[in-house]
Amino acid sequence: MYTSRITGLGHFVPENIVTNDDLSKLMDTDDAWIQERTGIKERRWIEKGSGETSSSMGVKAARIAIKNSGLSKDDIDFIVFATLSPDMYFPGCGVQIQDVLDMGTIGALDVRNQCSGFIYALSVADQFIKTGMYKNILVIGAEFHSGALDVTTRGRGVSVIFGDGAGAAVLSRSEDNARGILSTHLHSEGKHAKELVVESPSIAHWVPQLKSNPDDLSYFPYMNGTFVFKNAVVRFSEVIMEGLQANKLGVEEIDMFIPHQANLRISQFVQKKFGLRDDQVFNNIQKYGNTTAASIIIALTEAVEEGKVKEGDLVVLAAFGSGFTWGSAVIRW
Ligand code: UT7
Repeated sequence: MYTSRITGLGHFVPENIVTNDDLSKLMDTDDAWIQERTGIKERRWIEKGSGETSSSMGVKAARIAIKNSGLSKDDIDFIVFATLSPDMYFPGCGVQIQDVLDMGTIGALDVRNQCSGFIYALSVADQFIKTGMYKNILVIGAEFHSGALDVTTRGRGVSVIFGDGAGAAVLSRSEDNARGILSTHLHSEGKHAKELVVESPSIAHWVPQLKSNPDDLSYFPYMNGTFVFKNAVVRFSEVIMEGLQANKLGVEEIDMFIPHQANLRISQFVQKKFGLRDDQVFNNIQKYGNTTAASIIIALTEAVEEGKVKEGDLVVLAAFGSGFTWGSAVIRW
């Protein structure tokens, strides 16, 4: 059995910075509330009319990741693309990337697991590499939230949190079992699907129904924030422990914990629970907000670029989000 290693990383965020003060001009909110409840200072939102989308940001992140891996696009055997904000209802962003990057006729798979999307995508890619089916896989997480948020006071509980951006990783086959992705752990609990949801348009609730009822706002994200928060802190903790136990590792052996950037308070809760020092946890939600499937991969890229993840380090990734879905990945860097 092979092991997969991350051989290249890249990320892209739009230039347009939206501060909390900017949002307070659109809705009844303020910098103090947002920072106190979420830790977010600013986020990147795609400039309206720029034409940027999840797939175009994904392409930019992917180009950097492929370059950093030392491979060429022709060495990539498969694409896994995680997003909740695809350019089109169908087909998914994976095939768009395949086309723009001119990657022959390799397979492309889209993953729809929201905030856990990157962990799920990484896990899928890891299984394909472990079994020997593919050698190099491009894994992307990208989100274009800002085009579909309710930026009025009505939507303030959700819209202040989310940001746009993309990250990408190249996973490559390795025969060194001591390093690379040691394990991934995936979970879901569909009975809570409607606690964090965008319900339509869906085939069950299509555009004419929306148009016929101006009070129907089911195309905006709905989140039962407190309920999501309470579940998140429990599931984060469980799935981190599951990952450590599967590898017979202790909490004290974690060199870097990179949580999905949902809310700084969630990360701090988990950090405190596990007794981790500040230098053992990486957060960048302060400047990007919650970029859902892109958040972990953007954070991992920055942590590596800043020299905070070094060869041999034990890196733990964990996420929780809509579905509910949650997961973790344990990596020996
Ligand atoms: O990434 C996917 C998973 N997502 C998460 O993990 C998010 C989990 N949840 C959260 O992060 C938090 O629940 C939020 C940050 C979304 C909300 O924080 P909260 O402390 O749970 O606030 P709340 O929803 O209980 O609202 C408290 C008050 C309400 O006013 P009243 O009813 O007490 O008068 C809200 O209307 O804060 C009000 N409020 C705001 N005020 C100013 C809600 N949003 C805002 C806002 N600015 N943006």
